[in-house]
Amino acid sequence: MTTTLYVFTGTGNSLAAAEFLAQKLGDTVIESIPIRMKKAGVVIPDTNKVGFVFPVNYCGVPFILSEFIPRVSLSHVPYIFAVATAGGIGRYALLQLDKMLKKNGSSLQAGWLVRMVDNYIPYGGAPDEKTQKIFFQMQRACLPTSQTPFRQKRRRCQDFLY
Ligand SMILES: Cc1cc2nc3c(=O)[nH]c(=O)nc-3n(C[C@H](O)[C@H](O)[C@H](O)COP(=O)(O)O)c2cc1C
Repeated sequence: MTTTLYVFTGTGNSLAAAEFLAQKLGDTVIESIPIRMKKAGVVIPDTNKVGFVFPVNYCGVPFILSEFIPRVSLSHVPYIFAVATAGGIGRYALLQLDKMLKKNGSSLQAGWLVRMVDNYIPYGGAPDEKTQKIFFQMQRACLPTSQTPFRQKRRRCQDFLY
């Protein structure tokens, strides 16, 4: 395997994004963060690319990420990226993840914010079916794929796409 995707999903958007990404990238393993959290000990991925896929919650990362990141050893991983799915805005979640990784001695090399169906009921919840289909197409167009060149060099987190 060359890529590990650590995934958290509430209602399936981020899982769908991760599955699409895994299919496009090939040679990818998807690991559920909640399931991995149940096992004790340090998490050591044995791939040279690691991605975190998760929903934006309250403009930031879901709480479970803040518990998970300190447990993952990434110092040997040359390429770390993230895909945050959001119903509207959420750039800060990627910056927040980068800060959390830096506290742990690594950093993001790239991050994508992908607009998907909003599952936050107080803000109106999911749009009508036609709009959902448009978001679905947009999401597929936005996600990094095997055609997206993955930069192998460590660099500052500046590859955000909006
Ligand atoms: C508690 C909660 C908070 C959310 N906060 C935001 C937010 O701040 N910004 C945003 O764009 N979307 C927000 N959303 C919408 C989700 O990020 C979005 O629908 C995401 O794609 C859901 O992914 P999932 O199905 O993998 O959980 C929120 C959703 C929930 C349930």
